[in-house]
Amino acid sequence: MAPLPPAARPPRAELHVHLEGTLEPDLAFELAARNGVVLPYPDPESLRAAYEFEDLQSFLDLYTAGMSVLRTEADFADLTRAYLTRVARAGVRHAEISFDPQAHLVRGVPLDVVVGGIAGVLERSETELGISTLLIASFHRDRDSADALDVLERLLAMAAPIVGIGLDSAEAGYPPGRFEAVYARAAQAGLRRTAHAGEEGPAANIRDALDVLHAERIDHGISVVQDPDLVARVVAQQVPFTVCPVSNVRLRAVPSLAEHPLPAMIEAGMLVSINSDDPPYFNAYLDDVDDAVTAAYELTRDQRAALAAASFRGSFLAPDRVAGRL
Ligand code: HPA
Ligand code: ZN
Repeated sequence: MAPLPPAARPPRAELHVHLEGTLEPDLAFELAARNGVVLPYPDPESLRAAYEFEDLQSFLDLYTAGMSVLRTEADFADLTRAYLTRVARAGVRHAEISFDPQAHLVRGVPLDVVVGGIAGVLERSETELGISTLLIASFHRDRDSADALDVLERLLAMAAPIVGIGLDSAEAGYPPGRFEAVYARAAQAGLRRTAHAGEEGPAANIRDALDVLHAERIDHGISVVQDPDLVARVVAQQVPFTVCPVSNVRLRAVPSLAEHPLPAMIEAGMLVSINSDDPPYFNAYLDDVDDAVTAAYELTRDQRAALAAASFRGSFLAPDRVAGRL
């Protein structure tokens, strides 16, 4: 099937994208040169060629190594601007962007550099690019919850412009329940709460994210289909799931789009949006993901419009702002 022309794409929101995962090899080399960082690849093409993954961890290793070029406010600003400029062409009109504060703190990059660089671009994105934006601080599942709580307190103390928190990184062996206090503190501070769960891990992780963390939204969540009672519950409660089908295939959580549970999730009546996760790493921005799922599932115009509407419904925008976008 030929790629859809931009005019055929309904406006949509991207709710699941990791800012550090939007680093294009060309920009990585530009920032490396600017900061005197030596990358272990001779050129951007060789780096891109290394984007073949066996599982989530093999991706996380490269994703973490790539961050070494991000040092200054200008670096974070350039990264943010590059992503937004690219997805403006994909029909994205609202983006909820996650970033990993701990990944930068452990490298000695201060929080105000990270947040300042990102926020300076986000605050102008609606007027300059026609994309409203919200920022989510994501904590690492494979680190101590005390560290996450400490970073959350620092973000609150500096009045960082975040709408909410998330949980990401390795899933196997790191069930979400350990982060109960972090999520309780976020709720108390008036922050919204999402969490990666059920990407490589079992449906029980989704249950824990809902019951222990009181997460309002689930990132990935594809293992939900293993638990029919849980499917019925998330349908009844219309819990938003931010699904990243191309990411799941590239990280081999599922063998192919044809075997991906996305159609079953939609068919069951779940509130599902499609998202990119880490676009250059998976060679797919949101328009590419849209084309891939449209072709794989032969989606009708109405089904595509429903997915786009679900992306706004599952957002952390205030309800009156959602109504204006549907
Ligand atoms: N899963 C977990 N952690 C991540 C991901 C993901 O898909 N992308 C970036 N960090
Ligand atoms: Zn993710």
